[in-house]
Amino acid sequence: MKLAGKKAIITGGNSGIGLATARLFIAEGAEVAITGRDRQTLDEAVAELGPSARGYRADVTVAKDRRRLFTALAQDFGKLDIVFANAGISGRTPVGATEESTFENIIHTNLNGAFFTVNSAVPLLNDGASIIFNGSVHNYLGQPGYAAYAATKGGLVSMARAIAADLAPRNIRVNVVAPGATKTPIWKRGARASATTEETAKLTNFVSSATPLGRWGEAEEQAKAALFLASDDSSYINAIELVVDGGLTGAPFGAPAFRV
Ligand SMILES: NC(=O)c1ccc[n+]([C@@H]2O[C@H](COP(=O)([O-])OP(=O)(O)OC[C@H]3O[C@@H](n4cnc5c(N)ncnc54)[C@H](OP(=O)(O)O)[C@@H]3O)[C@@H](O)[C@H]2O)c1
Repeated sequence: MKLAGKKAIITGGNSGIGLATARLFIAEGAEVAITGRDRQTLDEAVAELGPSARGYRADVTVAKDRRRLFTALAQDFGKLDIVFANAGISGRTPVGATEESTFENIIHTNLNGAFFTVNSAVPLLNDGASIIFNGSVHNYLGQPGYAAYAATKGGLVSMARAIAADLAPRNIRVNVVAPGATKTPIWKRGARASATTEETAKLTNFVSSATPLGRWGEAEEQAKAALFLASDDSSYINAIELVVDGGLTGAPFGAPAFRV
């Protein structure tokens, strides 16, 4: 087992990539704290994950929630070995037509929320710990309508490098996993919640045809990358962005859409 005796916190561990990662970390021997805002999905996730999991309702954007969370983690877990700052939201912010509050909510959740999660976690971390941020291929795509989301995911990469330097004296590694399109509930939230079957099918086909491997990623495939960065298998890997996208950004012209 790759994480025997390790203690991890996963923000947004009640859904999608975070939940898949919690399952895998526990299967590899870790004790895992998961967080989220939605009490029901949090309780369901803890029930599914079993006795090695504990759930904490906490909004990453709310300082009071973070204080309560890390006080509880100090009591329940003592020290931590792994932080997966995974919680995030998507949302459109087309230039020329975006409310400031919409832009700020995405930045506050994905960037400030991730930084202040790690900021609060650092005093609880054992030396040699591993911190992982959840980035995105939006750091590279230049997709119309996603300025705020892309900025947060690019920001996480540069932030991770600076934090890796901060924590190098304690041998704490800091990396980013950058998923491509991955089948999770994020694609059914916000404006997409009201998408028609036809619109959903169009999006599904578009993503598959733009990806060299010709399909969407699975949350479990992102979890395996997080496990790699969390475990000693990546013991000399620090301050990198590990892109897990089926070739979307590295070999875009290999995608089915470009084949003749
Ligand atoms: N799926 C993809 O295609 C994809 C691609 C690239 C990157 N990512 C990144 O992967 C991460 C996980 O997303 P996912 O795809 O697994 O989507 P998801 O199923 O929607 O999960 C998002 C998680 O974040 C939590 N969350 C959101 N806002 C929060 C807040 N303010 N405080 C605490 N928790 C919050 C949600 O829990 P609550 O709703 O209960 O708060 C949920 O557990 C995100 O950072 C996302 O940007 C996903």
